[in-house]
Amino acid sequence: MSFRSSFLGVGTYLPERVVSNAALAERLDTSDAWIRERTGITQRHIAGPTETCTFMAVEAARQALARAGVSGESVDAVIVATATPDQAFPATAVRVQAAIGAGGFGFDLSAACSGFIYALSVADSMIRGGAARRVLVIGSEVYSRILNWEDRATCVLFGDGAGAVLLGAGPADGPGLLSTHLHSDGSFGDLLFVDGAVGLREASGCLQMNGREVFRHAVAKLAGAVDEALAANGLSYADVDWLVPHQANKRIIDAMGKKLGLAAERVVVTVDRHANTSAASIPLAFAEAVEDGRIRSGDLVLMEALGGGLTWGSALLRM
Ligand code: COA
Repeated sequence: MSFRSSFLGVGTYLPERVVSNAALAERLDTSDAWIRERTGITQRHIAGPTETCTFMAVEAARQALARAGVSGESVDAVIVATATPDQAFPATAVRVQAAIGAGGFGFDLSAACSGFIYALSVADSMIRGGAARRVLVIGSEVYSRILNWEDRATCVLFGDGAGAVLLGAGPADGPGLLSTHLHSDGSFGDLLFVDGAVGLREASGCLQMNGREVFRHAVAKLAGAVDEALAANGLSYADVDWLVPHQANKRIIDAMGKKLGLAAERVVVTVDRHANTSAASIPLAFAEAVEDGRIRSGDLVLMEALGGGLTWGSALLRM
């Protein structure tokens, strides 16, 4: 018997503290106008001491379960995409598993800002192959803890948060994930990286980025990834109802919307309020548009992301 991964529920968590561009400009050589014009960002949520990667992931997971109307025990697997776990191990996912009372198994996945697309792809393979029937896919990030708050070129771009999607095994000809497409090219590993990890004693652990080069790759590689997703399903730009892109920069998002010929209101944008929440950005944006009724049953939704690695990919789904 074959299955398709259908969407059962979505959940989110955003830290309580909101930091405006103006607040950053009070202690950095930057301005609200520069940040807005170059990125579209106006504010970001920044985690407090108790708002850990695990805490946010659990909150988002509980909300997704509640909205799907199912119990934690019915979940077979938890996958958390994160570059900012609280501990090297155990994985954030097993902490979530314990908190929601799930059986099965859980693990974390590292693919930077493409993490959610990667996690979706892995979960989909498991569901299609019959290894799991219900999988919680979560992106949870606290980039505020790996930023150099003196570096205006990077610290203004990111925010914290978590988003969760519950997938379930549905009929192969029913709604759900049509396909996912993953790519990475490690030869661009030095364009966007964190200069440390738990295994390196001398690590300072701050995010470093060549913004201009990342921007150039993003536009070209994301264009390829969306074409690939549509071609794999025999669909065209005109079939796409919604673009739910990774939320890194409004200019990259606009370029993708324009390429697809989508009206601006068909592109889900949260970067203005959330900034770049890395692996959490797509589930946060997706959940917002599902919950406010924009994305409806039967709609064709295209997701795409690019991040450190470089990693990139796309996912196409029928609601
Ligand atoms: N405030 C004010 N000035 C800033 C600034 C800030 N926060 N950050 C950088 N600048 C300055 C630079 O120092 C530079 O000054 P200089 O010309 O005197 O050297 C100038 O602004 C232009 O910098 P540049 O890097 O060319 O700007 P840009 O138009 O490329 O925009 C980014 C910078 C980071 C917004 C843009 O490159 C970008 O979004 N890249 C993609 C990043 C991304 O998406 N990363 C995540 C991928 S998951």
